[in-house]
Parts: sequence; C-alpha cells; structure tokens
Amino acid sequence: MTQHGSTGVSIRSVSKHYDAFRALDDVSLTIAPGEFVSLLGPSGSGKTTLLSILGGFIQPTAGSVRFGDRDVTFTPPHKRDIGIVFQSYALFPHMTVGENVAFALRARRLPKSGWAGKVAGALAMVELSGYENRRISQLSGGQRQRVALARAIVFEPRLILMDEPLSALDKQLRDAMQIELRHLHRRLGATIIYVTHDQREALTMSDRVAILRDGRLVQIDTPERLHDHPADSFVASFIGEAALLPVTRAGPDRVALGGAVLRSGRPLPQAGDLLLAVQTEKLLIDAGDGGDGGDGANRLSGRVSEIIYQGESLKVFLTLDDGTVLSLRQPSHHAARSSVPPVGGRIAVTLHPEDTIIVPRAAA
Ligand SMILES: Nc1ncnc2c1ncn2[C@@H]1O[C@H](COP(=O)(O)OP(=O)(O)OP(=O)(O)O)[C@@H](O)[C@H]1O
Ligand SMILES: [Mg+2]
Repeated sequence: MTQHGSTGVSIRSVSKHYDAFRALDDVSLTIAPGEFVSLLGPSGSGKTTLLSILGGFIQPTAGSVRFGDRDVTFTPPHKRDIGIVFQSYALFPHMTVGENVAFALRARRLPKSGWAGKVAGALAMVELSGYENRRISQLSGGQRQRVALARAIVFEPRLILMDEPLSALDKQLRDAMQIELRHLHRRLGATIIYVTHDQREALTMSDRVAILRDGRLVQIDTPERLHDHPADSFVASFIGEAALLPVTRAGPDRVALGGAVLRSGRPLPQAGDLLLAVQTEKLLIDAGDGGDGGDGANRLSGRVSEIIYQGESLKVFLTLDDGTVLSLRQPSHHAARSSVPPVGGRIAVTLHPEDTIIVPRAAA
C-alpha cells in the first residue's frame, strides 16, 4: 500500500437505539478528505458509539455511513482499512512492543522486509524509540497508549479513528503529543476523527469540532466559530470558560443586564430566553479614563470579590452592583497585575460588542 491520500466520510441520519434509549439520535455529518474532526461532548453523549459505528464494531439502528463513495454501513471492521485507537487500547500482552506494532503490517500482508523500518518510524513518532523488545506488561499506562497509537498509524491509513488516545498521559506528554498528532496529520494527509471530552484538546488539534449532547449533534464548526458563534447556551458553556447570565431583550441588538444595557455586534436570536455568554478573557479592565473604551464597548462596574492566582494568569471575580458575579482573566505579569484593584475595591470592565455573545437557552 504505497498509495496515499485520504477518505471523506459521510454520516447520514445515523441513530443507535438500545431498546427505548437513544444513544445516537439522527446524526448527520460530512467530513472532508484529510480533515481533522473532533467529537466533543460530556460523558455518555454518544461519542464512542458514533466512533464504533464508523469502525464497524456496532451497526446503526438506522442511517448509513459512506467512506468516499463506498457504502460501508454493514462492512466488517477488518475490511474498512482504517487505523483505530480505542479508549481501551487492546494490545496483545504476550507480544513485545515491536510485535504489537508490526501486527498491523502483518494483518495487511505488507512485505516483511519493510516492517522493521516502519515500526521504528512509528515508535519514534510516539517517543518510544528503542522499546521494540519490551513486553507490554513492562510498560506504564501512558506508554501502552502510545504503543496503541503507533500501531494505528504504522501502515499510514487514509482514515484514523481515535477515542481519547491521550487520556492516560500526564499533561506535559499530552501537550507534546497533541502537537505531534497535528504534525502527523499533516504529514500523512489522513482523515482523522478524534473523540475527546477535553475542549482544549479539541480546539488545539481540529479543523472542525462536532459537539454532541444526549446522542444529538448540536453544532459542528471551526474552533473559532464555536467560540464566537455558539449555537446555544450548551455549546457556550462547553467551550471556553463562559459565564451564562440571563438577559432581557432591549432592542434589535441590545439586551439589559441588571441596570446596564449592552450592545451586541450581531443580531439577537429570534426567540426564546436569552443568555449572555461572557468568556473570561473577553472582559477587560477599564483603564479608568471615564470613556466607553473609545469604540462603543459595553461597560460594567462592581467590586472585586475574589482574586485567584493561577500561575500564568489571575482569575478575578467581580460582583456587579446588581449582585451578578462575573470573572475575568488577567495575565500575571507585573504590568497587568497592578491594574487589578484589591479585593473589595471598585472595578470597571469593558466588553466589546463583538464579544457580547447572546445565545438562546438550550432545551433542558
Ligand atoms: N451496549 C449498550 N447498551 C445500552 N446502552 C449503551 C450501550 N453502549 C452504550 N450505551 C449508552 O449509550 C450512551 C452513549 O455511550 P457512549 O459510550 O457513546 O458515550 P461517550 O460519549 O463515549 O462517553 P464517555 O465520554 O464517558 O466515554 C451512554 O448513556 C451509554 O450508557
Ligand atoms: Mg467514550
């Protein structure tokens, strides 16, 4: 298999029911060849179920799956030719690391002469060079996870499915592997579908992120669009570090929050209860020149109620005069820190209209 390339994936109205329970409910999603798409959602939202359907391990109750122009809805896993890393990485405990990785090559009947080089290359990619002869039982959980990753990529598949492949790694290695996976994705040109419940991981690696909730697809968009144009309060609460505050309609592009009227840079949702989604990093401490920020920024004021030092930044809680609590992030370097009033002190903040994001309340 020297031919490279990638496969587009088309998921059409896929449902998976267990008796009356809907693990997946009418999910449709088209993934372009070479795209990196993450499935993000809370525990039990259907991520693994959807990935298992793509892998051929379970069959949908309704709907279809295509790889390119090939309908694979009922194709068994071994005929799908995809690289897979699952939540429970099924390695062969009685084989060495090298044998485990080479197994993917053997299963595809690739010429034996090329195995050693490919195995060494895949192990280097997951930072396990020289581990060929170790037994699986002699590895840590994170190392086993990386062997599983090496086995999934060693034959350079055109489609790779990964279910939380980095969950057992410590933060430093996870951060490094995220970047490594991004590079790997570019190098292989493969389509990658990646399950995670870590929103930062999804934003770091993906071209687009699909948000699942209770078996339904709520929104699929680029990280930036998800952040700036969340479809509803569920997405807004799941992405970033947003406070969601009930507001009332006060004009075509205006809402009232406590005593203040805020302008949004975009039209308000047509109907329903409205919430203001304020991301901590969008609130800026007002320099106190008495203006409105010079660009029509919204202004809010209150008192500092708590300051938490978190290393690279401070999280500053403020209580508005009507009792609403908000928080903002301030870099911890000296210049930024010195503009934070002490606890109990008055504070004024600005929120740019483009950062004044109003979302409809998600159904319960
Ligand atoms: N074989 C099964 N029979 C009945 N219910 C199932 C079965 N498999 C999964 N479910 C249910 O379907 C829902 C979705 O499960 P799934 O494993 O897809 O969640 P997930 O999003 O991957 O969660 P996590 O982040 O915890 O891995 C869950 O409520 C789960 O209990
Ligand atoms: Mg899962």
